[in-house]
Amino acid sequence: NNPPCPAYRASEKGSFAWDTTARRWPVILTSVIDDMCKAYAKETDDTKVKEGKAIVEGVSTLKYEIEHDRQIRPLKEDGQPDVAVWNQQIATYFPNSTWFDGSWLYNECLMYRRLRELYNLSTTWKDYDPFLSQKNATFKGSFGAVFELAQKFSKLLDAQTEEQNQILFHELMQVCLWGNAHDLSLLTNMSQEDIRNLQATGKEKLEEQEKNIVVNDIDKVWNHVKGLKNARVDFVLDNAGFELFVDLVLADWLVQTKKAEKIVFHCKTIPWFVSDVIEDDFSNLLESCFNPEFFASCSPSQDDVAALQALASRWQDYIKNGQWVITSHPFWCSGLAYRHLREEAPELFADLANNSQLVFFKGDLNFRKLTYDCKWPVTTPFNTALGEDLSEHFTSICSLRTNKADVICGLKEGVQEKIEQTATPLEWRCGGKYAVVEYSSGKPE
Ligand code: F6P
Ligand code: MG
Repeated sequence: NNPPCPAYRASEKGSFAWDTTARRWPVILTSVIDDMCKAYAKETDDTKVKEGKAIVEGVSTLKYEIEHDRQIRPLKEDGQPDVAVWNQQIATYFPNSTWFDGSWLYNECLMYRRLRELYNLSTTWKDYDPFLSQKNATFKGSFGAVFELAQKFSKLLDAQTEEQNQILFHELMQVCLWGNAHDLSLLTNMSQEDIRNLQATGKEKLEEQEKNIVVNDIDKVWNHVKGLKNARVDFVLDNAGFELFVDLVLADWLVQTKKAEKIVFHCKTIPWFVSDVIEDDFSNLLESCFNPEFFASCSPSQDDVAALQALASRWQDYIKNGQWVITSHPFWCSGLAYRHLREEAPELFADLANNSQLVFFKGDLNFRKLTYDCKWPVTTPFNTALGEDLSEHFTSICSLRTNKADVICGLKEGVQEKIEQTATPLEWRCGGKYAVVEYSSGKPE
């Protein structure tokens, strides 16, 4: 199962992995410290204040370890069943790794798990999500696109011809794709304004941005989707807030057109990569849509508010009647690439492979894990990067990802050279303004 090319490592100065480890992680950890200081300052319970301070100290220590490139240490026994698994992996595969010279993918996941260790070891902060206020604030910030989509999709769809379906599907796939630009861990690079610009919903904007989709398999996905009838479709989710909102718009369309009768949404089990969806974020999103106070400072019209509530109440009905299922599995919060899915989480693998007719993997981290985050030649076929387990056992896989890390595959000959006439490798691979929609049909190519 090992890929034939080297993994990305933060020891390569100037690489995005290096920039992330040296610069972005400290910013993210500092934002956790800020959030915690505000949170415990509001508390009156002595234990909670004391434990809040201890967490802040722990985050500072973690930051220090990373900045000084210390060796990664095993997890402390914090009461969670995954401790033994992590520690066994560290001992077997990464016994001498440091934060910079180990696998970037593994270490980045480990950092978020190390953060959770601090909360698990407390008695009063176990369920606290230090990223929640950032997630809420940025969802609020995307009100323009939220209301626009709510106005467009709140009413039930009229019966459509297959040709109209195709046009709308094409549009929704792109809305869903660019929704991934909304990743809070990248806000350390991109301004809110940049991100709002990428939240394309209008037709012209989408057409303009489609030029930046460097591998575009939307038509292949449509060829599969048009043949679906009452299927099960899965979303391995990425970010909360706006990205989740647009994922739900697409899921709603799949249900209304009867392409799917069941949608399964896979969340993370712990706060992850700043903005990733945990199960609580799902209910938070619906509550925010119902609560007129949430977007009140954005002065929506009465029509806007009514449209959003109508949409959210339809979504809530899907959940109540079991058409939408919200679930999470610890494998999504391990440090492993998805080539290990079959051996590490056989029941999850079997469920996805046998019962789902299409699995959408959203976002950059999922793409890194699908492709083992290693230095593939850029024209490597997506199926080769996925490996046999995924490319031959799943019915079909679609990755929707704005490019926010070096790894890339599936490019046609000559495309890289063309892009690099106007963009540097760092810009088109890591800047979040280019994207891929890559599809695997479940058959060897
Ligand atoms: O920091 C590493 C990284 O994987 C980036 O590549 C990306 O900016 C972010 O974390 C996660 O992005 P996404 O939310 O799209 O998975
Ligand atoms: Mg994310």
